[in-house]
Amino acid sequence: MSNTAEINVGGKAIELPVIEGSENEQAIDISKLRGQSGIITIDPGFKNTGSTTSAITFLDGEKGILRYRGYSIEELAEKSNFLEVSYLLIYGHLPSNEEYNNFVETITKHTLVHEDVKKILEGFPSAAHPMGVLSSLVCAQTAFYPESLDPNRSSDEVDLSIIRLIAKMPTFAAWSYKNQIGHPVNYPDNKQSYAANFLKMMFANPAEDYEVDPVVADALDKLLILHADHEQNCSTSTVRVVGSSHASMYASISAGINALWGPLHGGANQAVIEMLENIKADGGDTKKWMAKAKDKDDPFRLMGFGHRVYKNFDPRAKIIKKAADDVLTKLGVSDPVLDIAKGLEEEALNDPYFVERKLYPNVDFYSGIIYRALGIPTDMFTVMFAMGRLPGWIAQWKEMRENKEPIGRPRQVYTGSKERSYVSMSER
Ligand code: CMC
Repeated sequence: MSNTAEINVGGKAIELPVIEGSENEQAIDISKLRGQSGIITIDPGFKNTGSTTSAITFLDGEKGILRYRGYSIEELAEKSNFLEVSYLLIYGHLPSNEEYNNFVETITKHTLVHEDVKKILEGFPSAAHPMGVLSSLVCAQTAFYPESLDPNRSSDEVDLSIIRLIAKMPTFAAWSYKNQIGHPVNYPDNKQSYAANFLKMMFANPAEDYEVDPVVADALDKLLILHADHEQNCSTSTVRVVGSSHASMYASISAGINALWGPLHGGANQAVIEMLENIKADGGDTKKWMAKAKDKDDPFRLMGFGHRVYKNFDPRAKIIKKAADDVLTKLGVSDPVLDIAKGLEEEALNDPYFVERKLYPNVDFYSGIIYRALGIPTDMFTVMFAMGRLPGWIAQWKEMRENKEPIGRPRQVYTGSKERSYVSMSER
């Protein structure tokens, strides 16, 4: 393929550059098209539009490949841990021993949050969904660290904000749950690993000893790795667009948490379990629910199925399906919805509707089943996703700022009324 493309607008040929990525993927650069022709492109939902170049995550949806900074998700999930993967995503290389120890130690020192955070927390009704609480607490960090609002801070100062956010995220997450159930919050225990500290803050009763089960902590750590980045998805694009106005990192990531919340994105993990529970309560007739999913007059979709980018299989789903089996066996948990999930998957994979549309289980199809086995309540599932996605959002925000990307500001094709005169109320 030549490194230019030509389009013809009203009889005038316009040559546009074609850029190539490191995995040979190609893109027509249309940034100067409007200047040359007065025309813009339109692509609702950005289905065919690259918003940026990025060196963080590579994803091939046809082949089911996902790599962070060149390392395969399978290898990282097996051999690495969440904080090492966080370092890799944010700083671009696997840390040396010294870099890793320093990173982990500094994070461990910053897990405590300002006592006034509790006052904010207490202002939320207990019915508040923990995702809304989490996004509010993250945004509130701009008040505790107002220097983070300065868009021209040094890289050391940005690094400190990064450390603070990774360190405090499990505290905010666990506290959002404690607020919901009306229990006193637990303070971080810095002798624990990242995942174990979170679990202890979630489940410990301050009056009793609490031992974190290493099987549970390991499974959670693996789930966090699998969610850590996914290139320009809805929440990450949100983080980049909000950050492109030079809003602070805390404000940008708070916006990403809100974008993740919806059931078509991270909220699907909660929706999957609710769907499986409904199917179970309805007698477990998976065929009936498959028919609903295929009926265009029925708004029901098979949650946890389909993906904007993966059209073969989601490599995260493969790992998670196996992990779900392992974790349930190790913990001695038998969950009837796992059988319903497997039955649905088998039917969908053999159903022409799903096959033709290349709809496969995604990361959220089995993750909820593991979270449940780990004792995580259903409406905390998306909070788990947010904890995992945090280093990806940070890496993408940092890359966007370091590349000095312009403010994100799409155009539109206006379809409203032409100019008309105002008519006074009495004459309408
Ligand atoms: N159940 C039934 N039909 C579906 C489903 C589904 N889960 N997903 C897509 N379709 C159909 C859709 O109706 C359309 O059919 P047709 O061509 O006849 O109009 C076709 O498949 C293409 O779907 P689309 O909505 O145009 O595809 P998209 O790329 O815009 O949407 C998606 C991708 C993930 C939003 C969608 O597949 C979906 O809603 N899935 C269920 C929600 C879900 O599991 N989300 C989690 C995504 S993975 C976690 C993450 O990274 O966010």
